[in-house]
Amino acid sequence: MSLDAATDDLRASFKLAMRRFPAAVTVITSADQTRRHGMTATAVTSLSLDPPSLVVCVNQASLLHDIMLLARRFCVNLLRRDQVALSAAFSGALPPETRFGLGEWAVSPEGISYLETAQINIFCRKAAAVPYGTHTIFIGEAELVNVHDPVDPLIYQDATYCFSVPAETKAA
Ligand SMILES: Cc1cc2nc3c(=O)[nH]c(=O)nc-3n(C[C@H](O)[C@H](O)[C@H](O)COP(=O)(O)O)c2cc1C
Repeated sequence: MSLDAATDDLRASFKLAMRRFPAAVTVITSADQTRRHGMTATAVTSLSLDPPSLVVCVNQASLLHDIMLLARRFCVNLLRRDQVALSAAFSGALPPETRFGLGEWAVSPEGISYLETAQINIFCRKAAAVPYGTHTIFIGEAELVNVHDPVDPLIYQDATYCFSVPAETKAA
């Protein structure tokens, strides 16, 4: 097997493996001096509690990436189970300029759009940006968190939108 074929095999099996990681679906929003933008992202994870911080991995080819490089703040909007259409819109089904026409969006005093009906909003100050491969890892320090009940986040697993059920409860 050639080195290229081996690398292709590894990429394919890595992709298959990553599809088995259930991930909460978010829309990351940010703004620079002239533009606001939002993009669906699942590569979002907690970093530390002290300080309260998280990481978001953003493809360098995306418009959001250009804006986040210039921006001082961003917001992580965790979607609810019934917000699949928002996830689709913010991952390309709608062009950037019309995306905020879908859903109930408000603007923070710092000028960052946030989804009022999201499961949670985490408003972050950008603390660092670390390029790696095709992506940049943005580290955000939480400045304000809104949490809305009930707990019912939208999950993405095996390229399918799902919702979670406690393991000890039988799904209907
Ligand atoms: C469920 C889902 C999760 C995604 N997660 C990420 C992610 O974590 N990081 C990323 O850069 N793109 C992610 N994407 C891809 C972007 O949402 C998509 O490429 C987007 O259209 C690119 O942004 P732009 O159209 O605003 O330039 C995801 C797409 C979907 C459908």
